[in-house]
Amino acid sequence: MAGRPAADALPVVILLGPPGAGKGTQARMLQEDYGLVQLSTGDLLRGAVAKGTPAGRAAEAVMQAGGLVPDAIVLDVLRERMAEPDAARGIVLDGFPRTEAQAEALDALVAARGQRITAAVSLEVEDAAMVERIAGRYSCAQCGEGYHDRFKQPKEAGGCDKCGGHEFKRRPDDTAETVAARLAAYRAETAPLIAYYAARGLLARVDAMGAIAEIRAALARALSKAGA
Ligand code: AP5
Repeated sequence: MAGRPAADALPVVILLGPPGAGKGTQARMLQEDYGLVQLSTGDLLRGAVAKGTPAGRAAEAVMQAGGLVPDAIVLDVLRERMAEPDAARGIVLDGFPRTEAQAEALDALVAARGQRITAAVSLEVEDAAMVERIAGRYSCAQCGEGYHDRFKQPKEAGGCDKCGGHEFKRRPDDTAETVAARLAAYRAETAPLIAYYAARGLLARVDAMGAIAEIRAALARALSKAGA
């Protein structure tokens, strides 16, 4: 696996892909492999919902319906997270940007930090696999490590590999109805970003239909090609 990039490179990696493509799974691995900080707008918004902040209260119903949370709310939450000291390192954006307005705002944010986008990686999966992955997904209630009923079980049944926690949870928006709405939102609003980043020479396409470890290796190859 590739090592840490040079300190002055500070990669900014974007993971694009429909629900269940494996963005969160691979972002956590990039965190381990490259020391990048995972910034997931889905996790940040779920955290805001759990805390009952104004952003969380505004986002909750939209997320439950599978729609996209308004750009202004997402950007506020992301800016706040990016202002924390650890985010001054290289970052991997998981689930952001999702609209052209978000992509433009990200360009400005990154430029203001003296960074550049290293690569926008499109994780490409077939619809049937996506539904199967989401239907079997669960995570550790304590540390958030992700698992799957079939594809990624804890090494010891009932215990989290990462933190040893024994409580697991499933996401309330992982119902068949919501997943269909999330996929529709992806196709209408987010898929056009593939062309946005291709036009800027930043797009890398990764076939995300293989096993988790194969995709991890393919991502490392794509990032090495992009100079990370
Ligand atoms: P978010 O949390 O970002 O959800 P999502 O994009 O729908 O993506 P998922 O988290 O469902 O899937 P993933 O690609 O991360 O897959 P994972 O790695 O978990 O967003 C939720 C909601 O928040 C949105 O609907 C929206 O309302 C709102 N939101 C968030 N960001 C926003 C933004 N920027 N703008 C507006 N609104 C926003 O993998 C899934 C499962 O498959 C896991 O169990 C995993 O173990 C397994 N798996 C992974 N890879 C493989 C593999 N290769 N083979 C087999 N199994 C695999």
